[in-house]
Amino acid sequence: MILLTGGAGYIASHTGVALAQAGIPYVVLDNFCNSQPGVLARMGVLGGISPIFVQGDVRDAATLDDLFSRYPITGVIHFAGLKAVGDSVADPALYYDNNVSGTITLIRAMERAGVKQFVFSSSATVYGNSDASPLNESAPLSPINPYGQSKLMVEYILRDVAAAHADWRVACLRYFNPVGAHTSGLMGEDPRGVPGNLMPFIGQVAVGRRPELNVFGNDYPTPDGTGVRDYIHVMDLADGHLAALRYLQGEPSGSNCLMVNLGTGQGISVLQMVQAFEQHTGQKVPYKVAPRRAGDLASYYADPSLANRVLGWKAKRGLKEMCEDSWRWQHRNPNGYADPAT
Ligand code: NAD
Ligand code: WQD
Repeated sequence: MILLTGGAGYIASHTGVALAQAGIPYVVLDNFCNSQPGVLARMGVLGGISPIFVQGDVRDAATLDDLFSRYPITGVIHFAGLKAVGDSVADPALYYDNNVSGTITLIRAMERAGVKQFVFSSSATVYGNSDASPLNESAPLSPINPYGQSKLMVEYILRDVAAAHADWRVACLRYFNPVGAHTSGLMGEDPRGVPGNLMPFIGQVAVGRRPELNVFGNDYPTPDGTGVRDYIHVMDLADGHLAALRYLQGEPSGSNCLMVNLGTGQGISVLQMVQAFEQHTGQKVPYKVAPRRAGDLASYYADPSLANRVLGWKAKRGLKEMCEDSWRWQHRNPNGYADPAT
């Protein structure tokens, strides 16, 4: 049985459905600081079994000890974390408390419970201001904000814990830019307030919740001047977590702590994404060019060859699925999980 911390969140909820469909039971722990209870029922519908749910904070050791005593957890996928770069700059202590202290509390509870498989939601943000795309796992690690720092700190902590415990198995998955939604249209990304990320903002423009997209700069040194990123379908990410669990359950070749990119290896610009969305959904996405956003890089995308080689995983879904699945979720659930399932 697998514990999904932050299991009601965007990526974890889609991973939970993939686990259920693979016949792997799981428990969700979430404090709903950035998600809605309504997702749990939909996970149950799509996975064919209602998820076991514990409401709580990963920073609460007693909650974790109780959970580990009640359920035969064999591994943890640690999704719980705050992820807004701008918020992390405004309140760094909150991010270090939630993302770093929370992980330490979880590690200590796992040690007490004898649970030794750990998959961590890391981020390409650990590479910081690197213009060396495609980025492989040996690229310099230089995060430029407290959020990215918190992710790299956790990677270092897990590396050292794995070195101290030869029987632990750790995989840090560096996600690039997750987008898309479950193909059913029942689950998807449900950001609070004004979306910071490109794809949910495009969806809200397309469905009429926002008048137009601001394209943050068209004077970058990229083919069309707009920012280039490695967008990866959330269901490909979910499959990557299953591949990581299988890897951890086998005998590791070499280190018992793997750092690995999860990306497509393809860089897509903002305007290419807008054009793809219009092409694949038939919806118009009006936009205007706005000034660059502080902290944005021109271009970064993954070299996913290590994940291909070690995990036997490769992203399968392209822009068509990313846009179609995002749109299906967006227009069937204009208010996200606040809407009744249709
Ligand atoms: P999300 O906000 O949708 O999901 C995170 C979940 O964790 C939420 O349900 C939230 O309520 C929960 N949570 C947060 N702090 C908690 C705590 N202390 N105790 C219990 N629950 C807590 O975010 P997501 O996009 O699904 O991201 C999941 C993980 O992947 C995060 O750690 C994030 O940093 C990482 N990540 C996300 C992206 C991205 O672009 N979405 C990219 C790279 C890495
Ligand atoms: C993508 C591109 C923007 C919105 C962020 C976090 C990162 C990770 C993934 C957690 C950029 C442009 C965006 C808009 C725009 N999250 N854009 N108008 O910034 O690559 O990464 O999410 O780990 O840590 O930093 O993603 O979707 O915000 O931006 O023009 O309204 O779209 O400039 O080029 P980003 P994003």
